[in-house]
Amino acid sequence: MTSSWEQFEELIKAEMRKVYSEAAIDHSMNPRNLGDMEDADGFAKVTGPCGDTMEVWLKINNDTIADVTFMTDGCGTSIASGSMVTELARGKSVSEARRISQQDVLDALGGLPEENEHCALLAADTLKEAIKGYLEIKRDPWKKAYRKY
Ligand code: FES
Repeated sequence: MTSSWEQFEELIKAEMRKVYSEAAIDHSMNPRNLGDMEDADGFAKVTGPCGDTMEVWLKINNDTIADVTFMTDGCGTSIASGSMVTELARGKSVSEARRISQQDVLDALGGLPEENEHCALLAADTLKEAIKGYLEIKRDPWKKAYRKY
């Protein structure tokens, strides 16, 4: 027997399924790799055109994304996009991860409504900026002293 709360939850999910894919709903309700990171090798905070921000932290090992986390103050689809971009980046080489695009995030999420597609761009851009930050420090290690992460 299902409780009225479970029935309510199912009703909301049924409404969401009319607009969002199962993957998008799952990643927005159960985001992977959410949170900040101590002593990261790369970090970026990017503000999207909508005013929402995303942060990405990276741990790099032998030129591979060993760990990656994110935070956002944005909407459910930005949470889903941040979650998916971290899943796509994990285990990839730095140069492969750098090529992860907005379209890759959209494809992996099974698409987003047009008005939310910029959330996937914000996620891909923040990952790219975090990798750029990592590469800058790799090139000029003294810059790490001026970083807050
Ligand atoms: Fe701005 Fe989702 S990131 S609405």
